[in-house]
Amino acid sequence: MRVVSLFSGAGGFDLGFVQAGHEVIWATDYNKDCAATYHHNIGNHFVLDDIRNIPTSQIPECDIVIGGFPCQGFSQANRNRDIKDERNTLYREFVRVVNDKQPSYFVAENVRGLLSIDKGEAIKTIINDFQSIGYKVSYRLFNAADFGVPQNRFRVIIIGIRNDIFQGTFPFPQPTHSQKPSLITPNKWVTISEALESIPEPEEEHDLLNHIYSKYKVTDRNFIGHRKTDPHKPSPTILAKDTGGNVTTQHPKNHRRMSVRESAIIQTFPLDFEFKGSMGSQYRQIGNAVAVKFALKIGEEFRKIEKSELILRDKKTLLAV
Ligand SMILES: C[S@@+](CC[C@H](N)C(=O)[O-])C[C@H]1O[C@@H](n2cnc3c(N)ncnc32)[C@H](O)[C@@H]1O
Repeated sequence: MRVVSLFSGAGGFDLGFVQAGHEVIWATDYNKDCAATYHHNIGNHFVLDDIRNIPTSQIPECDIVIGGFPCQGFSQANRNRDIKDERNTLYREFVRVVNDKQPSYFVAENVRGLLSIDKGEAIKTIINDFQSIGYKVSYRLFNAADFGVPQNRFRVIIIGIRNDIFQGTFPFPQPTHSQKPSLITPNKWVTISEALESIPEPEEEHDLLNHIYSKYKVTDRNFIGHRKTDPHKPSPTILAKDTGGNVTTQHPKNHRRMSVRESAIIQTFPLDFEFKGSMGSQYRQIGNAVAVKFALKIGEEFRKIEKSELILRDKKTLLAV
């Protein structure tokens, strides 16, 4: 399917869809480091601008609009969550594009905190907005660890299907991994140590990208980013911070923080994906991203829909003959 991507960041969401076999034809973000990373790794269909300045006429026709609208305003890590936070209203830009372009589908990704903001009123408002422009909307909370991502990362996925397109609800992907494997989820969660076991120390000889030694000393002050990492579990959520210092997760051996490369591995970016910009910016791009492997799973469900749509279309053609 032809995909338009909003709030594209470094392109984690987009890369998962590309890996699933879709074509991302247009992407945008107003951050120049994201633009540099995206251009270098994914493609030159990226427009560097504030979405509020982009008229919909400049956005191509597409089958799906995807986007992780900015989450900091919604995030549970942000104590001043407020529905009037300006960053929360950016999702309205997402609504505008969907309304004007009328794609068959849209997928929006957000943090778990979205479900509890204003005692659940924010998600109701968002759903009403999309319903009022002609979409059936469903949403579900997922943990990326349940799909083989070596990280506990809870994210809400909101799916919209244009009313005339598809009967029934979206077949959300089924978890493949769990803490205790069962017949339904046969695989055990991937731990942070398993994910990083073949990665050399940054000061050893290596040819990995974005893998340089950080002099940052680890102090266990029980702040996010200072907590000890349990090597036997999936990584804690890789976070992004707007300003100030980083909130980087400790390496599973707890002797230093993870490098940019190691954080990217935990977010399931491929090893040849190179991040641009300052080190702080690189960590932020990674913390903001949709885990690539999780995005791939969602993308795969759309591939299945696409194939069944084609079969349906073929049958109609046959009947017409
Ligand atoms: C949660 S991140 C999206 C990450 C992306 N989905 C990925 O998987 O890599 C949100 C992005 O929205 C961008 N952003 C925030 N406000 C924006 C605006 N007004 N116009 C364009 N981009 C904006 C930020 O620069 C950030 O990269």
